[in-house]
Amino acid sequence: MKIFLDTANVDEIRQGVEWGLVDGVTTNPSLASKEKIADFSSLVRNILKVTPGPVSIEVVATDYNGMVQQAGKIAALGENAVVKIPMTLDGLKAIRTLKEKRIPVNCTLIFSPVQALFAAKSGAEYVSPFVGRLDDIGEDGMFIIEQIKTIFANYNISTKILVASIRNPVHVLRSAIIGADVVTMPFEVLKKLPSHPKTDEGLARFMDDWKKLFPTGDFPL
Ligand code: E4P
Repeated sequence: MKIFLDTANVDEIRQGVEWGLVDGVTTNPSLASKEKIADFSSLVRNILKVTPGPVSIEVVATDYNGMVQQAGKIAALGENAVVKIPMTLDGLKAIRTLKEKRIPVNCTLIFSPVQALFAAKSGAEYVSPFVGRLDDIGEDGMFIIEQIKTIFANYNISTKILVASIRNPVHVLRSAIIGADVVTMPFEVLKKLPSHPKTDEGLARFMDDWKKLFPTGDFPL
């Protein structure tokens, strides 16, 4: 399972890449607006440079022509640029056109398994179901990941399931059990994943016991 960071913050991406944990990045207009940058173009170019894999960048047009035009500009930024297109009728039409042009698309704002099926049939390389936002309205977001997985297996669909709107480590665990292709998460969730209180407790005990043997903390080999 690939791990993507859901951020437009270059420092977070750099740190995640240094840890060797980040395979790609997803951004959206809300994440970009959090960065309060004057120069969007430089921000995106920096993100593409520091990320070792695919970077999803979202169009802000909502009509077919506008989406296709903006997608062309995004794709021209580099080999690892992926165009994020919203799940609408115009979006589906744009995805089909972009597929013909061999421009990779991540279809975003997916909240039902049939939306994912339609995006895949139109030629999306990734579908992004938003599990956290479904949980927020009292549904089980992860259940639609299971359903999408089954539907894609039924029809041998190669579109990748990119689990989005991840809020906690359990979303990541359940994605891995289901066999999702990618999870995209905020930096705060990424940092929590390698931690366990019993690991911290166990390490502290090992260090204390070692100091009983070598009070200065020496390692005499
Ligand atoms: C996906 O690519 C979106 O950027 C993102 O995961 C949305 O998450 P949110 O519901 O936390 O805003």
